[in-house]
Amino acid sequence: MKVYAIGSDHAGYEMRLQIKAYLESRGFSVEDFGTFDREKSNYPEIADVVANKVAAGGYDGGILICGTGIGMSLAANKVKGIRAACVSEPYSAMMSREHNNANIICFGARVVGIETAKMIVDAFTDHEFLGGRHALRVDMISKIEKEGHL
Ligand code: RB5
Repeated sequence: MKVYAIGSDHAGYEMRLQIKAYLESRGFSVEDFGTFDREKSNYPEIADVVANKVAAGGYDGGILICGTGIGMSLAANKVKGIRAACVSEPYSAMMSREHNNANIICFGARVVGIETAKMIVDAFTDHEFLGGRHALRVDMISKIEKEGHL
């Protein structure tokens, strides 16, 4: 069974609950890292927890939701080994897996509706990295991460 880590700030709170239930209805296991109420919260704190969990292994991926998805992706991408893609439609979510080997998908609850969000997570969960020429490019990203440049 695939296992996903999920998190949101206050802006993504309602959508996170809906997406978590949706993933579970599809048979996935979901570990929820909050935020656990509607009070204003800081998206980097949630991104930090989810991204470090995903980077440490044991998850098939992570899902982060804030107002736009941008703050979550910026913060998550600071964690070594994380490739967080901020998307607003399912085609990019699919390509983030197939070409970029994204391990976290981010989107904005103020940008996409719940049906588009479901299609985004379907694309993220149901596609695999294609490797080949794409692996060379993803390895380049890792080299920049490790050494600061190619
Ligand atoms: C919160 O108002 C908002 O800034 C946050 O959810 C997110 O959109 C940041 O990128």
